[in-house]
Amino acid sequence: MLLKKNSIPFIIFFAAMFNVQTTRAQHADRISPGELWPDDHGEHIQAHGGGITKVKDKYYWYGEERRRGLDSNIRYVSCYVSKDLMNWKFKGDVVAFTDPENLGPKWILERPKVFLSKKTGKFVMYFHLDNATYKYARVGIAVCDRPDGQFRYLKSFHPLDHESRDIGQFVDDDGAQYLVFEDRPLGFHIVKLTENCLGIEREMCLIRQHMEGGAIVHYQGLYYAIGSALTGWRPNANKYATATSLEGPWSDFKDIAPKETNTYNSQSTLLLKISGRKDTTVVFLGDIWKPRSQWDSRYLWMPVEIGNGRMWLPKPVPFKINVREGSTFKAD
Ligand code: DGJ
Repeated sequence: MLLKKNSIPFIIFFAAMFNVQTTRAQHADRISPGELWPDDHGEHIQAHGGGITKVKDKYYWYGEERRRGLDSNIRYVSCYVSKDLMNWKFKGDVVAFTDPENLGPKWILERPKVFLSKKTGKFVMYFHLDNATYKYARVGIAVCDRPDGQFRYLKSFHPLDHESRDIGQFVDDDGAQYLVFEDRPLGFHIVKLTENCLGIEREMCLIRQHMEGGAIVHYQGLYYAIGSALTGWRPNANKYATATSLEGPWSDFKDIAPKETNTYNSQSTLLLKISGRKDTTVVFLGDIWKPRSQWDSRYLWMPVEIGNGRMWLPKPVPFKINVREGSTFKAD
């Protein structure tokens, strides 16, 4: 091909552009707890206080969108998709609500979690809806026909007439779906959702322990419930308890990591079970909050040691996931 002399600067320019693109959207072969975690555009993932919904072979990660330059009247929930849990493609903000219940300029939408109703095929998002003083204390619900479409605001309520602030999600091996929520006067509720996921069917248990960032996993016949103490954005020593049934009785709560590390400065948001051909691994998903620069809040994902009633979060190190095998291993 013959090149005109004056086209060379353009070619150099476009080559440089291309190079920038490819270096920004690199393929990730590991998860590095606490580090910046770039999405497919090279932007730090914004899915804080999040949850994960598996649809066939895809994982959808929803969370609080806190990037800089957002409209301060709007609350956003982002959505990312991945097949390997290490590389995440940004699907956009699936929620952008403007104070649906007139709660005032500092209204709160936190900890979104999405359930897929097998009965209706709809995606139902639960979130903590509140006013600036955290006194409204309700769950809000939004629905969508697709995992990554625009969710439509539906309603808010007090689950079974209780106050609800931090929420968490749990899907059992039999497909039954549960919401957990923190009720300031009483403790930690585990409730079963109705089949259409639009309401609460019944209470499974009230654990008289105050826990935020609540999560549950079912592993080798035991349920493990985890959560943090109530210290605002400051990290504390997260704890877990076990039971053979969601209805309890639950064991005493124990630390999941050396107390002095304050859960390695993180707060739980989900326990993700990865069941593969060879193995089943449980990964602790936590937030490392930066209250003064929330856009820069990080994630602490780390496989836990689990079994026989014990759960332990080892010192975080970079690791790889093989979703098909259900295994994780330390990165070199
Ligand atoms: C702790 C909760 O876990 C967060 O979701 C958030 O509500 C902060 N408290 C606010 O202080």
